[in-house]
Amino acid sequence: MSVAKPLPHDSGPLHVTGQARYVDDIPLPANALHLAFGLATEAHGRILSVDLAAVRSAPGVVAVLRAGDLPFANDCSPSAHDEPLLADGVVHYVGQPVFLVAATSHQAARKAARLGRIAYEALPAILTHDQALAADSRFGPPVIWSRGDTAAAIAAAPHVLEGRLEVGGQEHFYLEGQAAFALPGEYGDMHVISSTQHPTEIQHKVAEAIGLPMHSVRVECRRMGGGFGGKESQGNALAVACAVVARATGRPCKMRYDRDDDMVITGKRHDFRIDYRVGHDDDGRILGVEFTHATRAGWALDLTHPVADRAMLHADNAYWLPAIRIESHRLRTNTQSATAYRGFGGPQGMVGIERVLDHVAHAVGRDPLEVRRRNFYAAPVAAPGGRLPPGPPEGISGKMKAAPAQTTHYGQEVRDFVLHDLVARLEATSDYAARRAAVRAWNAANPVLKKGIALTPVKFGISFTLTHLNQAGALVHVYQDGSIHLNHGGTEMGQGLFQKVAQVAAREFGVEMAAVRITATDTAKVPNTSATAASSGSDLNGMAVQAACAEVRGRMAVHLGARHQVPPETVVFREGRVQVAGAEYSFAEVAGMAYAARISLSATGFYKTPEITWDRVKGRGRPFFYFAYGAAVTEVVVDTLTGENRILRADILHDTGASLNPALDIGQIEGGYVQGAGWLTTEELVWDDKGRLRTHAPSTYKIPACGDRPRLFNVALYGRENPEPTIYRSKAVGEPPFMLGISALMALSDAVAACGDGRIYPDLNGPATAERMLAAIRRQQGRDDV
Ligand code: MTE
Ligand code: MOS
Repeated sequence: MSVAKPLPHDSGPLHVTGQARYVDDIPLPANALHLAFGLATEAHGRILSVDLAAVRSAPGVVAVLRAGDLPFANDCSPSAHDEPLLADGVVHYVGQPVFLVAATSHQAARKAARLGRIAYEALPAILTHDQALAADSRFGPPVIWSRGDTAAAIAAAPHVLEGRLEVGGQEHFYLEGQAAFALPGEYGDMHVISSTQHPTEIQHKVAEAIGLPMHSVRVECRRMGGGFGGKESQGNALAVACAVVARATGRPCKMRYDRDDDMVITGKRHDFRIDYRVGHDDDGRILGVEFTHATRAGWALDLTHPVADRAMLHADNAYWLPAIRIESHRLRTNTQSATAYRGFGGPQGMVGIERVLDHVAHAVGRDPLEVRRRNFYAAPVAAPGGRLPPGPPEGISGKMKAAPAQTTHYGQEVRDFVLHDLVARLEATSDYAARRAAVRAWNAANPVLKKGIALTPVKFGISFTLTHLNQAGALVHVYQDGSIHLNHGGTEMGQGLFQKVAQVAAREFGVEMAAVRITATDTAKVPNTSATAASSGSDLNGMAVQAACAEVRGRMAVHLGARHQVPPETVVFREGRVQVAGAEYSFAEVAGMAYAARISLSATGFYKTPEITWDRVKGRGRPFFYFAYGAAVTEVVVDTLTGENRILRADILHDTGASLNPALDIGQIEGGYVQGAGWLTTEELVWDDKGRLRTHAPSTYKIPACGDRPRLFNVALYGRENPEPTIYRSKAVGEPPFMLGISALMALSDAVAACGDGRIYPDLNGPATAERMLAAIRRQQGRDDV
């Protein structure tokens, strides 16, 4: 009853009235301390001396710690134990924490942290892709996956193209910055409240840092004010710092980064340099393609391997590439340690092949949509349960062709490829053909303002590629008054996971939403959780909650059935009522009866994704349970005198399976698209030649604002059930729409191409800032004077 309804986010009223509590809003105990880091000012340097006398004597300072003062592990890495909490001997980037200050107020701690005097012996800093490649500074050897003899396929192709695309990183810009709070307890126990996507990781790192088993550490998170991948691992340092000082002083500790510090200290999206060589025929069909990915991982490993792997896994996007070779270089540089960010490498991999198709379409002089479609994977094999929505314009509903499924370059069958139909529908509803003609006509008539339009598709793999992470747990209590306490391992960061999962619980018990209490993620209630990431929060936790609810409901049904001498399967839970053998009770009555009969009304639930296998060394297997699909048409206008531009209109058709909550899904699609477009248009990270990040505040780092959203923004759900048995046949939605933003870059490229005689391919890099746009326009006009 409560699933598939467009119900508002459970915290909506709290968000908009400012009553939602974040870590920084929790009232502090009287003697709480506030922490701040003293940061490195060299990109690479050996620490010669550290003078902290002024820090120690600054007002309000209670304790100052360096690496040597840490009692146990000096590490907050999520992977390779290569990320000391406090620099030990050598600093690796500008902004690396070197010492830790605890003071009686946030301001006092921050002010004192500025007073450290550190002398360095400068070491050679590796900042750029080229420097890292030249110095062979990398995390592991290049990873190479391939299918077919790509070199031969390209050599035999009628046409060959080469190019390079650079795409920048991206600051997460969560509204709530990183924050943590630690309350010391008996026997050294630590209760941590953290703004984290990964409470179990926080628990693990805190336990290591205070030398106790994980059972001594409890981590809670009610919500984050945004995470976007930036709180999968980047919250570790704050929680560990709080726990270490709380242990040392016996006092509660809180730490939050000021925005500038947050931007300077924490990792961002991986920037990519993508070289490509492609062989194609006269119609733009790709016969073979080679990619070389080079990404700056920063100073520590963090999640770089899985991120760079996912880029490789999405190098095909929606296209059947008969021969493909991808070589991936994960470069160690003296910059922030790049980390997870919505799409987790997928966007970088995908923008590479989208660029290739755009380039090929230009070379063969055809509409890029036609070339894209020609290269699509084949239409699907009919799959059980995969009902299509009615009434396509020229769709494939009804009988689906039983062609053998094509496989991706990593060997996974593409069984439910819906993009032929989905794109046909979007093409019709967005009026693509007529608008493309109108854009051409506009450009012929207008010398200064040029327009561009592009349609790009998305096929995104759902599941963690580290197979064991695809598990989740839940804990459900029914109290004797019929109210329900719901807990699971997922975290809420604004995406609406808690609301969706509560809708699952309400449906399973046949009760109204008000009967279900959503509670904070808590490692003491559900252990050994995975990060809420890879968009799989509702897939995994929804199923775990369903299992827990089914268990309790089943016990209730057995009890009622026995009482009325009917089989338990005949007991119906609906609209807050329970019907059995002609009798009817309220859900609360049944809970009371079950309690009185000494039936346990509490259960855990567990789920693991079936059928997935993955060998990352070989690059073969079925890493994804299924794919999520979507497509977007973006139309832009560009001022050719300044390079300034805006998105006029975006039309999106996105596949969320049988949506768990259409309102939240549309919100995710809108937000994802805008964030993806921001990555490729205005959001520019600039480091100077000393490795200092110059864009560390909203004054210099430009995220899309309300005024940057498309003037016309049409978002629709495709509405087809997931053929795979996910929770109520829904599909994950958190990350896939991000990559719809690629259409904005391609539309800008289309507008630039209209500035000259059309012979030069625009070669637009991301982000296509006004400056880059202007340079590309000048190039197009044959003017290299600017
Ligand atoms: N939406 C909001 N509002 N805030 C966020 O931080 N994070 C994104 C996406 N949507 C995010 C968001 C990322 S990176 C992921 S992986 C998913 O949400 C995680 O949640 P899910 O698995 O429940 O979709
Ligand atoms: Mo999302 S980048 O998987 O947290």
